[in-house]
Amino acid sequence: MSFYVTTPIYYVNAAPHLGHAYTTIAADVMARHHRQRGETVFFLTGTDEHGEPVADAAHALGVEPQELADRNAERFKALAPQLGVSNDFFIRTTDPQHEAVVQEVLSRVRENGFVYEGTYEGSYCPRCADFKAENEIADGNRCPIHHIELTREQEENYFFKLSAFQERLEALYAEREDFVAPRSRYNEALSFIRSGLRDVPLTRHKLTWGVQVPWDAEHVFYVWFDALLNYYSALSYAEGSDRTAELWPASYHLIGKDILRFHTIYWPALLMAAGIELPEHIFVHGFLLMDGEKMSKSLGNVLDPFAVIERFGADALRFYLMREVPFGQDGSVSTASFELRYESELANDLGNLASRSIGMVNRYRDGALSPGELDAGLQADFAGLRERVEGHIDRAELHLALEEIWQRVRGLNRYVEEQSPWVLAKDEARAQELDRVLRSLAEGIRVVTVLLWPYLPSSAERLLEALGASELALRSAELGAGSIAQVSAIESLFPKDL
Ligand code: MSP
Repeated sequence: MSFYVTTPIYYVNAAPHLGHAYTTIAADVMARHHRQRGETVFFLTGTDEHGEPVADAAHALGVEPQELADRNAERFKALAPQLGVSNDFFIRTTDPQHEAVVQEVLSRVRENGFVYEGTYEGSYCPRCADFKAENEIADGNRCPIHHIELTREQEENYFFKLSAFQERLEALYAEREDFVAPRSRYNEALSFIRSGLRDVPLTRHKLTWGVQVPWDAEHVFYVWFDALLNYYSALSYAEGSDRTAELWPASYHLIGKDILRFHTIYWPALLMAAGIELPEHIFVHGFLLMDGEKMSKSLGNVLDPFAVIERFGADALRFYLMREVPFGQDGSVSTASFELRYESELANDLGNLASRSIGMVNRYRDGALSPGELDAGLQADFAGLRERVEGHIDRAELHLALEEIWQRVRGLNRYVEEQSPWVLAKDEARAQELDRVLRSLAEGIRVVTVLLWPYLPSSAERLLEALGASELALRSAELGAGSIAQVSAIESLFPKDL
């Protein structure tokens, strides 16, 4: 079994912000979970370096586009390890191997008869690097995303015959209802297709910052076609040998809702035109909002992920983003709600549960646990948990998987209160009962921790180490599948006095 997950590649005209960290963290949760299943996982992220927005930003700074790209690609690259993200490769669209694949695939699209020369005229947003359809243009002549004035552009281009794929795309959506999720996004893509597809420009004439069109030196490829192909090109050179046969098609492309049309319509059509197999799933997440607006550099309302990580650690940020916003919907984020979740859930629910449980095993039993029966009530509460978590993650319902696990964390807290080991410890006659409670508690904590590892990798590893049970394989996420003989001390996982 192989599992190949991607994030969008990020534009290097801006510095990384929380919106970028969001998709990358989500992809990491999926990648880690699938590694726990023992699958061959490939997780790709990277930077989108060509096109007008990047060229414009570079010129505004008085540097060459390549220089700006080099500088900002480094910042995106550095963000991943700081977020605890375990990507297997970081692609840059200025990689010469990527450029060669773009030229090869798009030449094939032309040879297959899906490219012609023509003139394009339309309203264009330089920040989106995209023409806007008439029905998208909001308040006057402004970009609905960036709120900036659209320009009227006319250009001699080569066109991609998107219209030729109208029926094939409709058939694809009819046959594969899980091609795009959530359902509302599937409907959105389908209704765009049904409204009638028009051909789209494949190349840009005036620009020079892009991948050269091999059959006409005066053109570069339109940045979106160059960018989309990263998902395919990376496999051919990321690891020295060509792994396309093993890993393609992609299992999941994770994207934000603003780039839906490119991924759910242009991308499958392009792959069909080139004779390449289609990805399995495209999952569209919503926006992180601050004060009701999309967080973005150009709007200047940014929550700085670097600052959050520095104070609270990457795990806290990962947890917050996966917990606060249902994956697939828009959601508001704020420092206040971050601190609330950190305190009530990470520090209290999980951190305290771990430290007091380990503390009691140390205090009452010198850290040792004896083998034996587990509490029947807890066993019933944990039955089927692993399968439900797997099911949610298969459907990219990352918040629902986390909620399933968190209900067990809360259940374990109730268990401690109900069983009151501190009362049992006072009564020699109840020693066996105390043994069973401590053993069940430690085992329950072990299971939730294995399941939490994709969300909280570094804290989970510390906790498992303190439990003397470092096995991460998903099959060990069953009550009774592991055995804890000896616990050690653990320092506070989520300290409150930061
Ligand atoms: N370069 C293109 C993608 C090409 S993929 C072949 C691009 N880059 S981007 O840097 O502008 O955005 C990358 C991703 O970040 C998009 O999926 C976008 O939705 C996401 N986000 C940017 N701001 C966001 C929020 N405030 N909230 C959530 N995600 C948002 O588009």
